[in-house]
Amino acid sequence: MPDFPADFRWGVSTSAYQIEGATTVDGRGPSIWDTFAREPGRIVDGSTGDEACDHHHRYAEDTALLAGLGVSAYRFSISWPRIQPTGAGQALTAGLDFYDRLVDGLLAASVDPVATLFHWDLPQALEDAGGWLNRDTAARFAEYADVTAARLGDRVKLWITLNEPFIHMSLGHGMGVHAPGRVLLFDAFPVAHHQLLGHGLAVAALRARTASPVAIANNYSPVRPAGDSDADRAAAAAYDALHNRLFTDPLLGLGYPDAPGVDPTVVRDGDLDVIAAPIDVLGVNYYNPTGIRAPEEGSPLPFEIVPLDGYPRTAFDWPVAPDGLRELLLQLRDRYGDALPPIQVTESGCAYDDAPDADGRVDDPERIAYLDGHVRAVHEAIGAGVPVTGYFVWSLLDNWEWAEGFTKRFGLVHVDYPTQRRTPKSSYAWFRDLVRR
Ligand code: FCB
Repeated sequence: MPDFPADFRWGVSTSAYQIEGATTVDGRGPSIWDTFAREPGRIVDGSTGDEACDHHHRYAEDTALLAGLGVSAYRFSISWPRIQPTGAGQALTAGLDFYDRLVDGLLAASVDPVATLFHWDLPQALEDAGGWLNRDTAARFAEYADVTAARLGDRVKLWITLNEPFIHMSLGHGMGVHAPGRVLLFDAFPVAHHQLLGHGLAVAALRARTASPVAIANNYSPVRPAGDSDADRAAAAAYDALHNRLFTDPLLGLGYPDAPGVDPTVVRDGDLDVIAAPIDVLGVNYYNPTGIRAPEEGSPLPFEIVPLDGYPRTAFDWPVAPDGLRELLLQLRDRYGDALPPIQVTESGCAYDDAPDADGRVDDPERIAYLDGHVRAVHEAIGAGVPVTGYFVWSLLDNWEWAEGFTKRFGLVHVDYPTQRRTPKSSYAWFRDLVRR
């Protein structure tokens, strides 16, 4: 492996609902994922995040795993309904206490706490009032950012406002595959705008409470047209605008791109200035490129997603394409030039059907190959002049993978859910050695 700068940030990521469990302790309110997971047929294995990895009780053990890994940072998310059970009003001390203990434990282990404020677990009471379709949710989000940073702002080393607002809009509100399960197709645009507005308002709230850098974590996927026809290229451009530019152009001061669904009547005077508040880091979550071709006659979408041939595939059936990460990083640099802040890859990883062998060891050579390829792609992008300053593996632990329940394992650490026993996989040792070097 080639050398990285000495101050490069190596980390791992998780999110609250996927690992914490303990969904009814200390006054925590229900979130849209508690509700959604209980609806028959939503989650492939019928499971919920009620227990997940029981991290709320086992955070000290998990912090020891981070210390053993030697990472310089840990990206976790804060559960909004633990802090404000109904998404408004006074913060719950007990909810904040949990993250306070976690943060202090991380600092004692020389691991920088990187906190995401919203990783999709909206308080159900806010959803009942319209959720992200309701402009008021943006203001509620900024209030939540304020009360949270009032307690943790002195110790969290990087604040991330939103996780993957594109996925929350498209899978949660466009297609109904994620909570809250709405099927609005392109009428979901207000969810994009109000998340971005909430982000901008939260940046201002955070700046008032902390000197730590502020970021957003977007999901990106370089788009590959299926063929050379004008129709395929136009479809690819439409998908690219939606997935890769809708949540980045306005952040970097360019306003909304010409993407399907963009509705200027939702945007009020001054909103774009709020959204374009400078950020210190752009978080990039990357898993795979997307193949696109022109839609069939009569399709409600201006594109069709098609499988990409010629790549190995993960257990999620996602293509393993490290070249896509390099391509994406160069594309961001070419697209945004000097307006592009330093990038940290805030998620990169893969699911495989990892299981302990007869000796209890979990060997995951495919994950090692995956990570090796993606880390090299980052190195090449840095060599080509892209300012990348960090790389976080998704995920520390096997965990509750949204609509896929417990069926997809992304961890460097295997979790046996019935016993909650943690077993570091061979990729854990590989990543530890990489970080050490
Ligand atoms: C990302 C999510 C994360 C996890 C990975 C596999 O889209 O941010 O929570 O589900 O995918």
